[in-house]
Amino acid sequence: MLCPRPITFLLACLAAFAPIATPGASGAMPPPRERLSINDGWRFTPGDPAGLATNLSYDVRPALEEGRRDDGPADATPQEAARIAAVAAQPVLKPWILPTGNALIKDPAKRHARPAGDPGSDVAYVQAGFDDSAWQPVTLPHDWAIAGPFIPEGNIGGMGRLPSWGIGWYRRKLEIPATDAGRRIVLEIDGAMSYSTVWLNGRLVGGWPYGYTSWQVDLTPYVRFGGVNQLAIRLDNPPASARWYPGGGIYRNVWLTKTQPVHVEQWGTIVTTPHVARDAATIEVAVTAANTSSAPAAVRISTEIFALDDAGRRVNAAVASIPPAEVAIAAGERNTVRGSVVLAQPRLWGPPPTQQPHRYVAVTRVTRDDALLDTCETTFGIRELRFDPKRGVIVNGERIRIQGVNQHHDLGALGAAFNVRAAERQLEILREMGCNAVRLSHNPPAPELLELTDRMGFLVVDESFDVWERRKTPLDHHLFYPDWHEQDMRALVRRDRNHPSVIMWSIGNEVGEQYTDAAGAAVARRLHEITREEDPTRPTTTAMNWAKPDMPLPAVVDLISLNYQGEGIRQEPEFEGTDRIRTPPQYPHFHAKFPDKVIVSSESASAFSSRGVYLFPVSPLVSAPVRDGRGGDSTIRHVSAYELHAVDFGSTADKVFGSLDRHPYVAGEFVWTGFDYLGEPTPYYESRSSYCGIIDLAGFPKDRFFLYQSRWRPDHPMAHLLPHWTWPERVGQVTPVHVFTSGDAAELFLNGRSLGRKAKGEFEYRLRWDDVVYEPGLLEVVAYKAGREWARTVQRTAGEAAALAATPDRATIRADGLDLAFVTVRVTDKDGVTAPRADHRIHFSVEGPGEIVATDNGDPTNMESFTSPSRQAFSGLCLVIIRARPRQAGEIQVTASADGLQTGATRITATR
Ligand code: GAL
Repeated sequence: MLCPRPITFLLACLAAFAPIATPGASGAMPPPRERLSINDGWRFTPGDPAGLATNLSYDVRPALEEGRRDDGPADATPQEAARIAAVAAQPVLKPWILPTGNALIKDPAKRHARPAGDPGSDVAYVQAGFDDSAWQPVTLPHDWAIAGPFIPEGNIGGMGRLPSWGIGWYRRKLEIPATDAGRRIVLEIDGAMSYSTVWLNGRLVGGWPYGYTSWQVDLTPYVRFGGVNQLAIRLDNPPASARWYPGGGIYRNVWLTKTQPVHVEQWGTIVTTPHVARDAATIEVAVTAANTSSAPAAVRISTEIFALDDAGRRVNAAVASIPPAEVAIAAGERNTVRGSVVLAQPRLWGPPPTQQPHRYVAVTRVTRDDALLDTCETTFGIRELRFDPKRGVIVNGERIRIQGVNQHHDLGALGAAFNVRAAERQLEILREMGCNAVRLSHNPPAPELLELTDRMGFLVVDESFDVWERRKTPLDHHLFYPDWHEQDMRALVRRDRNHPSVIMWSIGNEVGEQYTDAAGAAVARRLHEITREEDPTRPTTTAMNWAKPDMPLPAVVDLISLNYQGEGIRQEPEFEGTDRIRTPPQYPHFHAKFPDKVIVSSESASAFSSRGVYLFPVSPLVSAPVRDGRGGDSTIRHVSAYELHAVDFGSTADKVFGSLDRHPYVAGEFVWTGFDYLGEPTPYYESRSSYCGIIDLAGFPKDRFFLYQSRWRPDHPMAHLLPHWTWPERVGQVTPVHVFTSGDAAELFLNGRSLGRKAKGEFEYRLRWDDVVYEPGLLEVVAYKAGREWARTVQRTAGEAAALAATPDRATIRADGLDLAFVTVRVTDKDGVTAPRADHRIHFSVEGPGEIVATDNGDPTNMESFTSPSRQAFSGLCLVIIRARPRQAGEIQVTASADGLQTGATRITATR
């Protein structure tokens, strides 16, 4: 059944037409739109050329205070922006860069005119004749800092002790055929860290400061058609610009997009599903086409809808189509057509396990007479999203408790360089735990990450900023926020609004404007309004660790996101008299003040642990700060894996579960964090990476993984025992045993003797036998649910380390130069029991068509370069990441060897 809505269009001169492409000499007509990956063939060098005479800085930066640490407590009050006293000795490039964002500035009066001149054209690195053969050949995505070396000394722990700051240049040749003359040639960069400036053939084209935004520049006026063009990109990544590891370089995909002058604009399609029912759904499609030619154009725009299978392939014929609309577009203008269709028996998008993430694609065609001018595809999902202040998030009528985690953008040993398989592996591990949602803290993600969350059915909080006008670190985002917030916010929403997985827009995280009352709320209101203009279908939110219900900020946003405040902050007596934030539990206060707004815990637990490291004595509490002798040991920089300790202002999982169960109207939680990440290594600033992940940096689950699984997958029979049971020095000493189970009771046995059966009480989430006296042997737990045996598991005392066992995450990978195998290597005794404290140095080698990309062991104190082919095991485990060589099929043999241990090996098949 078709139900088109009225089509709106501008009536301009229909008589004249913009030129369309003519066939080249060969007679072959290029396809109307080409989006070419240009990730390969780049050359890279750090630093500017010697004797640089031109100032290539985007702007003047405030001086850095000497000796200042690059961290501070995460909940420190952000400060007023530093005023820049110095005046540039030479003009800066900002006036030439600002026009790049014009398409995202709504008010024409506020758009920027390009000044005269071509700054930088005298710089050797931008010139076609410059010989860059001595530069490093690189393939994008590229993170210049991840190979290290780590810098153990100095005030750079917050940003991860890797050399991410500084200048970097990238050059690439672009061959643009003569047949492209008359087409529009656009460079699209999904993310470059940071302050990008682009030159083509020696002429400054534009750029973008924010390292996380996807942006584009129009190369057309600078292109030499029918020849080789020289592209040069300079990045200038400041120190002290982030509270975590930002990475450095062009760390996401780069594309060259070619269209006709009349084309669908960047992010120019909007697909919404305003009415969704089981038997029918309304699909609305808005298409904005632009005409960059000097003549008016009259075109026809149509859209067909196809179902996609799980792999994203179209299934059969179109299931619906929106009738063509005639539209006139004046020269240099744009125009939007809107249409809709009702689809019977839609396959809805929803989160597993109760729903399936079905997707569709809208294929839009722009034609004139019979000529196809443009075509583009928009993947979307049909789902009804409701926010109910008493029940939380409702997807297709079903209440979905948010079982979420926060995720920073780095991929551990691979750094910031985006890799689809590495991100997919993270999501698979999270899914195994029962996680159904991710908050992409605190910046726009790689676009491919949202394709994964769409396909896998995760709910996503898409977040724009960690900082607005007030600063958290000296050279962070506040420096260009006033000039760029509109462009960055619109870019995020326009790019991501068709993703069914995105359920809300977070416009900020713990921003300093929480402290500035009406002035801060005005900054928030501006972002809220921009966001709602771009997408009226989803709520806005901002994560608050300080703003209280009676302050102006929470009133601005649609949905209340609380960081730590729900549980209460620093309520323990030891924090009395502190000048840091102390807040009693806030859920009831926000709920009373905003009865119409959904509340979610955007950062719930921020607990610490080092995988497999158990420290004694064990706290009798379920949530306590870390101190030496109380869960922590600053001499070895580890936090106990009993999972009882948290950041001073945060809570552990057990405490959060209790507060969520006491306040069932709260929509759920996002744990800080799913995976450990590079930088912000609280509580040990000298380390390289964080301690708060449920899963370590290498992707190995900590014990906490099973605590979450026990709650988030109540129907999955499981029981987990901790600690490991290999303690030769603890014979006769009290060694508490804790059990995480989706059952409700359990009985513990040591060498066949029952140590008693215990049941979970109200608001208890673990079973604990705190007085067990250690003896080697077999520890076993039998878990029960409703009186019936539900799950059982054991811990065995390991013998001497004897062998290595290697297991890949997948037996077959694609030989496309991108796909990866993650091989876990375990140190075992002669019977295959993991030696849980083994720290042998393991050497990795590869035979066949593969290569080692990186190694890791998940130890936050480990400062060996990630590219090292050898590494010490940490708590018995080590990881090696293997890539198949492009286009080389075959068997890859991965071998792990260590002194005194039997070698371990595994095979991975690379297919073409
Ligand atoms: C929060 C902050 C996060 C991270 C976390 C550490 O205050 O939003 O970015 O710093 O604390 O526990």
